[in-house]
Amino acid sequence: RSPESQQILEAHEWLTKLYHHLLKNSKDGKDAYQYLLDRGFTDELINRYQIGFSPRSRDFVVTFLEKKGFHPQTMVKAGLLNADNDGNYHDRFNGRVIFPLRNHLGKTVAFAGRSLGDQQPKYINSPETELFHKGKLLYNFDLARSAIRKQNSVVLFEGFADVISAYQSGVHNAVGTMGTSISTTQAKLLKRYADKAIICYDGDQAGINAAVKAAKLVRDVGLQTYVARLPEGQDPDDFIQENGADRFKREIIDASETYTSFMMSILRRDYNLNLEGDRIAYIEEVLKEVAKITGAIEKEYYLQELSKEFNISFNTLKEELDQISVQTQ
Ligand code: UTP
Ligand code: MN
Ligand code: MN
Ligand code: MN
Ligand code: MN
Repeated sequence: RSPESQQILEAHEWLTKLYHHLLKNSKDGKDAYQYLLDRGFTDELINRYQIGFSPRSRDFVVTFLEKKGFHPQTMVKAGLLNADNDGNYHDRFNGRVIFPLRNHLGKTVAFAGRSLGDQQPKYINSPETELFHKGKLLYNFDLARSAIRKQNSVVLFEGFADVISAYQSGVHNAVGTMGTSISTTQAKLLKRYADKAIICYDGDQAGINAAVKAAKLVRDVGLQTYVARLPEGQDPDDFIQENGADRFKREIIDASETYTSFMMSILRRDYNLNLEGDRIAYIEEVLKEVAKITGAIEKEYYLQELSKEFNISFNTLKEELDQISVQTQ
């Protein structure tokens, strides 16, 4: 690890503590703290996730880091400060709630700063650095790792707030993919700890699209893939705050559907099953998904379902399936 990376890690460690302290103890941090309480974040969660606040100041963090002996240029590179054209340094996250982003070793390597209200952009993230690659980091993996292993399953969320609220609901095997789908590297990492993944993304179009992408990717690394769906317009955190932890566990997580049945419902949106041509196209698309199922029982189960729904003999479907399997090998 380069001396510069070492500096960057140390600065993140100091700032994680400072931001957290300021959230809980400073006058300037009071409304940020209230904002979190109003959202249903308890003190236990705020402490566990070391949530913080960056003061409304252009140079509070500049001064702090200077006093600690950090080079401002390095801090700019780390994404902790901004530099303007006149060579002055400024705080980057001022006035925002701070979520420290920890790597798999539990070291803070970046921050996400959320605005307190509807102010845009909602989140400001650290830039990519030697230590932080957005596509590689799984939020909360360090804290969730042992639960993922023990339960042999992992739950994927889009957002930080979802992961944090889910913890309160007793879902401890949760990681966040930070708004992006999930990368193959991340999926392969998870496969080393668990056999099963539940994708629980936001109940909006963006979330559904991301879930389709994530589900395929996760399934392709060999994880048994399930998708938990949220009511239209809600994300997991919204659902938990509105309906409580028990209902979240029972109605969302425990009710998650298999990859194949999720894909069937996605495909259903694209076809008008009252039309003959669409019906046939739909069946063929579903068969392509069924062809990728490894378990014989599960395969047969979906063939039976199709056979019943569309009144096509099991054998005909099986024949077609075998043909698809040969083609895709
Ligand atoms: P969402 O828009 O669903 O945010 O984006 P959220 O997690 O529900 O946030 P709250 O509840 O409104 O506070 C999902 C994730 O996408 C990333 C963040 O990681 C966020 O958690 N994101 C979103 C950004 O990086 N920047 C943005 O401006 C918005
Ligand atoms: Mn790298
Ligand atoms: Mn979203
Ligand atoms: Mn969301
Ligand atoms: Mn949310």
